[in-house]
Amino acid sequence: MDHHNTIKTPHFSHITPEDLDHIYEPSEDSFLLIDALEKDLDLIRAICPAVCLEVGSGSGVVITALATALGPRCCYLATDINLRACRITQETGQANDVSVNAINTDLVDGVRSPVDVLIFNPPYVVTPSEEVGRGDLEHTWAGGELGREVMDRLFPRVSELLSSKGVFYLVVLKENRPQEVAELLALQGFSCTTLLSRTTGPEKLSVLRFTRNR
Ligand SMILES: C[S@@+](CC[C@H](N)C(=O)[O-])C[C@H]1O[C@@H](n2cnc3c(N)ncnc32)[C@H](O)[C@@H]1O
Repeated sequence: MDHHNTIKTPHFSHITPEDLDHIYEPSEDSFLLIDALEKDLDLIRAICPAVCLEVGSGSGVVITALATALGPRCCYLATDINLRACRITQETGQANDVSVNAINTDLVDGVRSPVDVLIFNPPYVVTPSEEVGRGDLEHTWAGGELGREVMDRLFPRVSELLSSKGVFYLVVLKENRPQEVAELLALQGFSCTTLLSRTTGPEKLSVLRFTRNR
């Protein structure tokens, strides 16, 4: 096996059952996203990223996995609306010998551009709007109408945030209408590729990759 092009699943045994009452447990979607990043490692390396940012990092396994694969000399940032998730993200980095800086904020507020690799596994479940942002665990899954209420707030900010060579990875559910999401970002000059899709139980999940049109 070519270890250069594989991503190790990070250790996360420091996360306690009590933590999991407040933060998102690494799940199928987290691992699908790590698999998608692994599939795209050559492309990511080719842009020589200086800043990688994961929005809504939860346990931190995804940004830590990327940091482990790419190594130092890059700034790894994470944000989460949940302070405990930020703390655990930093711990996950430490437990895997990488440095991840977690910021407790809404989406990308306070983050300086340019970002070269932007990652988001958003709360994507279709729920009543009132459930969005109701508490720590609702933050992890409740996506409101079409499951899009949180991710839709990020889209208008992607173009100003990403560097010219930047790439954006997004997890979506079929119910989120990926084609419509692609059209929204096309208005900002991005083209969309479906990198990976997986059906787990009732969920059909995909990881989309957006890059600027040349
Ligand atoms: C589906 S979980 C993904 C967690 C982790 N990235 C993973 O893949 O395992 C969504 C994460 O987004 C965070 N989140 C929800 N709304 C947010 C917002 N407005 N700004 C920042 N983070 C948010 C949640 O707290 C949660 O950690």
